[in-house]
Amino acid sequence: MLRYCQNEGMFLTAYSPLARGTVLDDEDVRRLADRYDKTPAQVALRWATQHRDVVVIPKSTDEDHLRENLELFDFKLTREEVDALTKPSLLKSGKAMLDGMVGEIR
Ligand SMILES: NC(=O)c1ccc[n+]([C@@H]2O[C@H](COP(=O)([O-])OP(=O)(O)OC[C@H]3O[C@@H](n4cnc5c(N)ncnc54)[C@H](OP(=O)(O)O)[C@@H]3O)[C@@H](O)[C@H]2O)c1
Repeated sequence: MLRYCQNEGMFLTAYSPLARGTVLDDEDVRRLADRYDKTPAQVALRWATQHRDVVVIPKSTDEDHLRENLELFDFKLTREEVDALTKPSLLKSGKAMLDGMVGEIR
């Protein structure tokens, strides 16, 4: 989808970029958070913002979280680190989305 948007000159909006909070417990995200002295939320949002033509819209009702979610641009994940998060993130966010849909239907 992202590649298609980039080729066609469109932006892609990253809804639920924290997978509604579930990504914060991801082991790989937490490992990178320790490495960069950042929070898991900051690593997940940095991963998303490092993709070209992606607009990232996390939601928070907490003032500290809102501030934290803006303090992303003083570190950068390497290409290897971005790639390492990409495949598991796709699987886990897909599962989180399905779990949410099943919950809504019930
Ligand atoms: N139009 C659509 O079909 C559609 C579908 C999905 C999503 N969206 C939009 O996408 C946006 C985000 O979606 P979302 O709310 O589903 O998911 P999200 O942004 O992935 O996750 C929000 C959750 O993460 C927590 N959070 C945020 N920042 C955090 C931080 N720094 N540390 C720890 N926890 C943090 C929030 O709790 P706190 O409030 O406690 O910080 C909240 O529980 C919203 O504007 C939503 O309307 C639109």
